[in-house]
Amino acid sequence: MLVAGLPSGQDAAVEEQTSVDSVVYEILGFFVERGHAKYSERVTMEQHARQAAALAQAAGASNSLVLAALLHDFGHFLGEQDSEFGVTAHGETGGAWLAERFVDEVSEPVRLHVSAKRYRCHVDSAYEAELSPASIGTLRLQGGPMSVDEAAAFRAEPFAEDALKLRGWDDSGKVVGLDIPPIDFWLPLLKDPALRRVGREVSKP
Ligand SMILES: [Fe+2]
Repeated sequence: MLVAGLPSGQDAAVEEQTSVDSVVYEILGFFVERGHAKYSERVTMEQHARQAAALAQAAGASNSLVLAALLHDFGHFLGEQDSEFGVTAHGETGGAWLAERFVDEVSEPVRLHVSAKRYRCHVDSAYEAELSPASIGTLRLQGGPMSVDEAAAFRAEPFAEDALKLRGWDDSGKVVGLDIPPIDFWLPLLKDPALRRVGREVSKP
């Protein structure tokens, strides 16, 4: 965007700010439009997102990983629901959507958070019993516990550890009636230019 009368450096800053704001509006719009869905959980998608982010922050996670926690189920907002549990491929679709707007430190844990569940089921036989009924339901649709080869490939992912942390906050962020910050509390992270992908083509869902 060119702004008349501004030196070129300032114009670039305005352009960056405009782009940042449009992404924030887009994300908040999805939360308003689709954040009320529960997809067989006891809390809404919006409550679940806020709880996951609050847990990440309480654990001392980096800003990028807190934002990943807030947006980890964004893929449920992007496609058509294909089961009572929402959008089966939400990890991939959400991760791809976020990768066009945010750095890998945000998008990659999101892309991998479903794989992280399948990985944990592979390495820890007791883990599945800790999952919510909806998470167990989606596990079946997502291919069940990983095979040995799949687990090795997951471990080789640069953001595997972050995805496993995110998975823990995802699993725990389903408490009814919790008093936690509203979405607006996370605006500084949503707007943070340091977490933004710069110079990539953004496609609409
Ligand atoms: Fe989740």
